Amino acid sequence: MAVRVLLVATLLIFFAGSAETAPGQACPMDVVQDASSPVPLSDVCIPDGYSDIPMDYFDDFSWREFVAVVWPAASGRRGIADTKKTVGAPGPRVFETWKSLWEVFHTDGSAPVAFNQYEPPGTNACDARTGFGDVVLASKSGIDDIGQAGIGELLGPLVAQNGKYVRQQTLYNQIAYDFIVRNKLYLRANLPPVPSPKPELPVVQFPMGSAAIKAAWLDLDGFSEAQKARFYSRIALVRDVNTGTCSKKTMGLVGLHIIVKTPSRPQWIWSSFEQIDAIPPKQFGGTGKFTFHDGDRTKAMPSENPLKLTPLAKEPVMPFNVTRSIMMPIHPKTELMTLVYQRLLHGTPWEFYQIVTTQWPRLEGNQAAPVPATQGGEVTTTFPGAGATTAFANLTMETFDQSRPQLGCMSCHNQARMTVDFMWSVMDHAYPPKIGVAKTAMAQ
Ligand code: HEC
Repeated sequence: MAVRVLLVATLLIFFAGSAETAPGQACPMDVVQDASSPVPLSDVCIPDGYSDIPMDYFDDFSWREFVAVVWPAASGRRGIADTKKTVGAPGPRVFETWKSLWEVFHTDGSAPVAFNQYEPPGTNACDARTGFGDVVLASKSGIDDIGQAGIGELLGPLVAQNGKYVRQQTLYNQIAYDFIVRNKLYLRANLPPVPSPKPELPVVQFPMGSAAIKAAWLDLDGFSEAQKARFYSRIALVRDVNTGTCSKKTMGLVGLHIIVKTPSRPQWIWSSFEQIDAIPPKQFGGTGKFTFHDGDRTKAMPSENPLKLTPLAKEPVMPFNVTRSIMMPIHPKTELMTLVYQRLLHGTPWEFYQIVTTQWPRLEGNQAAPVPATQGGEVTTTFPGAGATTAFANLTMETFDQSRPQLGCMSCHNQARMTVDFMWSVMDHAYPPKIGVAKTAMAQ
């Protein structure tokens, strides 16, 4: 029996989004935080009969997933954690070896190669030959990886205090990737039409264990060494905004979204993390500079993004102050969960990250009961809900969408639910791509 469990556990390491406990199995009342394993939970573990808002269980699920995806990857093997290493060990992380957007969606609609392989140079905007652990932050349009996400369209960019734009990177784990490739969802013609009247279930449904990530990166040039040391950073190939040429830069991870499709929550579980020096801390201290704030607390954040995506101003760009809406602070329970994980991750760069929010689909009653896939991701049936008083947006990726709960993760992605199971990126990038620039992101 023990051997079988071990074997299963080993196999599960192959799939981020896999598991330890199945729904319905006994789940402890007290969350057992753990940052020592690269194996995430296969599903949120809520004790049977629990009828309160199960925030701790979801935030813990999110942290375990975070630990699993930032774990060092096994050398030469995409998507697989090196179980002999600890989470703080150097090297490419598991999520960085997943398939990035440009590997899946080619500008000519051609088929991508197998998960473990690498695309030929022409498929990325740097024309670079890539291999294990390489990260290319570039898009052929020059703006797709810089504009923030709107409702299926691109909004203005975010600039940091060093005058550099935040770059976004989308990645898929093997389960999600293989599904896209098997069904040729990289071609728009293969996205099935949504019949009318609308069916109960999305036309396309990703398999359980599918996961996707959106990572936000920043060129750390200009920040002090002390500041830089508090980031997870790595060398990436980055396309320069001013010249269009690519070169190697030290990029720091400023934000991370993770979504995982689980048996009990087929609407995916939506988790979001930030590096903690984005803005001054809430209560005290902080006269120094922060990533997206100059330290002068009297300077408010502009109500609209002053930056346009087209034409894109050259770097260095004049920065503005970002703040977290005082109406939507991070939930105190979520902050407590971060404190526990920061302690567990002490001595690694990951102790400088925090969870901002977990969003999940809600049903009344027994929270251990699975939510049927027929339920959508409307704001009224998701946490924190239409009357939200706590954060649902990431400062680095939904900077100007912090105060309207209708613009929370799930409710925005819900518009892509029927066609592609919430996956906006597939809706936008299936060939021929359909991602447009919002009017507000264009110079008037
Ligand atoms: C206003 C709408 C909107 C909101 C709010 C939003 N997203 Fe997205 N998101 C998008 C769009 C559009 C894309 C695809 C961008 C592209 O085409 O490259 C995307 C892409 C993603 C992806 C890549 C995989 C996919 O689904 O296509 C992840 C993961 C993701 N978002 C997670 C989140 C999380 C977590 C939150 C909340 C903290 C969130 N998003 C909030 C619009 C939104």
